[in-house]
Amino acid sequence: MSERPAPLDGQPVLRLEAVRKTFGSTVVLRDVDLDVAPHTVTALIGASGSGKSTLLRCANLLEEIDDGAILLDGEDITDPRVNPDTVRRRIGVVFQAYNLFPHMTVLENITLAPRRVHGVPRAQAEERARELLERLGLGGRAGEYPDRLSGGQQQRVAIARALAVRPRLLLLDEITAALDPELVGEVLGVVRDLKDEGMTMVLATHEMGFARDVADQVCFLDGGVVLERGTPDEVFGAPREERTRRFLRRLTEAGRL
Ligand SMILES: Nc1ncnc2c1ncn2[C@@H]1O[C@H](COP(=O)(O)OP(=O)(O)O)[C@@H](O)[C@H]1O
Ligand SMILES: [Mg+2]
Repeated sequence: MSERPAPLDGQPVLRLEAVRKTFGSTVVLRDVDLDVAPHTVTALIGASGSGKSTLLRCANLLEEIDDGAILLDGEDITDPRVNPDTVRRRIGVVFQAYNLFPHMTVLENITLAPRRVHGVPRAQAEERARELLERLGLGGRAGEYPDRLSGGQQQRVAIARALAVRPRLLLLDEITAALDPELVGEVLGVVRDLKDEGMTMVLATHEMGFARDVADQVCFLDGGVVLERGTPDEVFGAPREERTRRFLRRLTEAGRL
């Protein structure tokens, strides 16, 4: 794998500058600024439709922004001269639905991108995959097909697949939302371990207890605006904005906080 220059000290891994995204006449992100420091976890919270997924998709260049800029390790990745594929190789993404290839074994799912996209030799890709599976508590599952695994196991395979290319940044979009409640913990445990290992992550989540526990920075999105941001204690413990308070109150009433 090619060596990248070490990022400058203090430079954010990811920076959004006045990002604006529209779908037709709907403004979905308006003037979003965000800095994600190395080895930190940023939690995006907010009601459904507030723009969390769109923000993550823009960061991975799955959506083209209308205005502003997105920087990865200081490089403007929204510059039209930048090849999106080279950017996506530096960012791992895990979505709500595991999106594993059903006709491929766990090992094949994980080694696909390193082999095809990064040109890693098979033996080396498989060694890395087995190491990841071991770390994620899935040692011995390499030869299974996805439909033989539980949802939690499949989601951990999806995380292993995202990590296989040694990404600089991991984007996680509601990765526990489709899981049965008893399987949520094992996936969140993996995210916590990754944080302890220093992985830089941005995650959209409805698991407020988890966000409070694991995040360094919490951003509350409302109608495409980062209405409030701060440490978990600030945003959850002493929210400044009425809309944040209302959102948290609704969650509390629903027994989710
Ligand atoms: N491809 C799309 N075309 C049109 N509107 C979209 C598209 N994707 C998202 N939206 C709209 O953008 C807004 C934000 O959606 P989304 O980013 O998915 O929010 P969240 O992840 O917070 O639920 C919603 O109003 C949604 O309907
Ligand atoms: Mg979403």
